[in-house]
Amino acid sequence: MGWKGILGFDYGIMQAPLGPDISGPELVAAVANAGAIGLLRAPDWECPEYVREMIRKTRTLTDKPFGIGVVLAFPHEQNLKAILEEKVDVLQLYWGEASEELVRRAHDAGVKVVPQVGSIEAAKRAVDIGVDAIIVQGREAGGHVIGQEGLIALVPSIVDLIGERDIPVVAAGGIVDARGYVAALALGARGVCLGTRFLATVESYAHPVYKRKLVEYSKTEHTNVFGRARWPGAPQRVLLTPFFSDWRSLPENEDETNQPVIGRSTIHGVEKEVKRFAGTVPNKTTTGDIESMGMYAGQGVGLIKEILPAGEVVKMIVGEAQLLIQQKFQDA
Ligand SMILES: Cc1cc2nc3c(=O)[nH]c(=O)nc-3n(C[C@H](O)[C@H](O)[C@H](O)COP(=O)(O)O)c2cc1C
Repeated sequence: MGWKGILGFDYGIMQAPLGPDISGPELVAAVANAGAIGLLRAPDWECPEYVREMIRKTRTLTDKPFGIGVVLAFPHEQNLKAILEEKVDVLQLYWGEASEELVRRAHDAGVKVVPQVGSIEAAKRAVDIGVDAIIVQGREAGGHVIGQEGLIALVPSIVDLIGERDIPVVAAGGIVDARGYVAALALGARGVCLGTRFLATVESYAHPVYKRKLVEYSKTEHTNVFGRARWPGAPQRVLLTPFFSDWRSLPENEDETNQPVIGRSTIHGVEKEVKRFAGTVPNKTTTGDIESMGMYAGQGVGLIKEILPAGEVVKMIVGEAQLLIQQKFQDA
């Protein structure tokens, strides 16, 4: 059956790397211990020793495989070197072009390479350089959105492009439960990558106010209001909070650089100011006007009713997907 594991993991459920500093060792280990694919998130600056520490700390919490995500739009060469030396199981890549040479280096270290793409053209380039799986992000997704279309059209197009090659497609965007998982399997995906659902877990480093709003609010919007200066040309999907509602029409010539400081956050051990319209979501260390900070979330957020331990999320999705397939689709 389609719900079986991929890439050597028990299950085809992946916890998206959540930046900045939201998916740390506790979340990743909880996901890994439940048999799914947990992904740390590397910092957006070079700090290879810190990256090693994150990986080693995760290893103290689980003896299961796990991975780490790197955003290629930011400095990353030394971090990558540390990641390959530490031989994590999966290297996830986002927002930038991976090279054939990087894939070869990763494979030489025994590390599988899994880019997240948002178009058929980018999927084709990923296949050509020899990646091990492809995460297909739809426009429904929370966080930064490279996805150009809805998943329901994009996933089968990329499944067809891959054809007989053994490169699992993993669907990302708006999926929070077993129904979304089974729907993705029907589209030809072999796994799902969930960001918002794992954000709303006990182990995620999201600020408690942010977690509460994920349960309270159900609407999101695709925007570019946050982090325009730090990460230009990278739209996001955010929760439609009262703050965002008030500012959603921010003039195009404005960005976070000349805005007031509204709080402080420690991100991967470094204390930073948070300006209004910064692209950094509040994590557990953040102080200040949390309500006025950007809060990323995908279109499935309205289906999230409670904050759960991450392992329970995995068990629930796997168990309910098996039931759903048996009860609704097997005897048909
Ligand atoms: C708070 C948050 C942070 C994210 N950070 C990253 C990231 O650092 N790297 C990445 O590849 N994807 C990131 N994503 C996007 C996810 O990889 C994934 O595409 C998305 O969460 C799927 O949609 P969903 O949130 O509806 O499940 C982030 C998503 C959220 C909600």
